[in-house]
Amino acid sequence: MTGPAESPVLRIRGGALAYGPRRLWSGLDLDVQAGEFIAVLGANGSGKTSLLRAVLGQQPLTSGSIEFLGRPARRGDRRIGYVPQQKLADDGTPLRARDLVALGIDGHRFGLPLPSRSRRARVDLLLEEVGAESYADAGVSTLSGGEQQRLRIGQALAGEPRLLLCDEPLLSLDLAHQRGVSELIDRQRAARRMGVLFVTHDINPVLSFVDRVLYLAGGGFRIGPPDEVLRSDVLSELYGSPVDVIRTRGRVIVVGTPDAGHDHHHDDDEVE
Ligand SMILES: Nc1ncnc2c1ncn2[C@@H]1O[C@H](COP(=O)(O)OP(=O)(O)OP(=O)(O)O)[C@@H](O)[C@H]1O
Ligand SMILES: [Mg+2]
Repeated sequence: MTGPAESPVLRIRGGALAYGPRRLWSGLDLDVQAGEFIAVLGANGSGKTSLLRAVLGQQPLTSGSIEFLGRPARRGDRRIGYVPQQKLADDGTPLRARDLVALGIDGHRFGLPLPSRSRRARVDLLLEEVGAESYADAGVSTLSGGEQQRLRIGQALAGEPRLLLCDEPLLSLDLAHQRGVSELIDRQRAARRMGVLFVTHDINPVLSFVDRVLYLAGGGFRIGPPDEVLRSDVLSELYGSPVDVIRTRGRVIVVGTPDAGHDHHHDDDEVE
């Protein structure tokens, strides 16, 4: 558990982001502690990916500040691991599974590659950690979406991150693989005491792991434990229209949001 004296991995103060006249969110205060698992929820276009890009230093805030490990966040810091919103490998890629993971290791060397033996050992360890040993030498483009997703997590872990940003890592996975990938991320979170920001349209696969939810909607946000945010009154106020949160069989279902109907099947707007 995190001690009160410990400083957060990530600290956002007064964060606001707008693209021209389009305001996404403002007044965002968020501390992410080491080992904390935060789910980021919200409608399509509410600014979830933009938030991760701001943390990565790829997107300047309109106002406010972001500190990572007590310093202004800067672009290219390898201690922030990033699993971008899904992109399957091109059919033509000659990369093998282990090459994809190795890219994560080489990325933060300053011109001097690791000796090939220790490099290989690290890749093997990462492949094992993400449960990908059995297809380590397979061509990436021959692998399923779930298998590719594990490799991308392995690649993100290669930089020994203190903070892991995952942008809808469960998209297009079946329920069993959603579960497997969620468990993998949570296990690595605990083992490495990483903070995790996990963007997802469906909270259910990660509900048992989540410490807090950051819910973005209607230009505003709510942060808190799932029980305090995923409530009809709270979300209705946030959206500015009636929203029902239904809890059944240990699942949370949000009904009546403006983007309802896309909650679980929004592949149509994810086409590239
Ligand atoms: N670089 C940019 N310049 C201008 N507008 C942008 C830029 N990036 C994103 N936007 C717009 O900002 C809004 C938020 O985009 P963002 O990708 O952060 O949303 P999101 O919450 O991740 O959505 P989704 O659930 O569809 O992934 C969208 O309307 C998008 O078109
Ligand atoms: Mg997004």
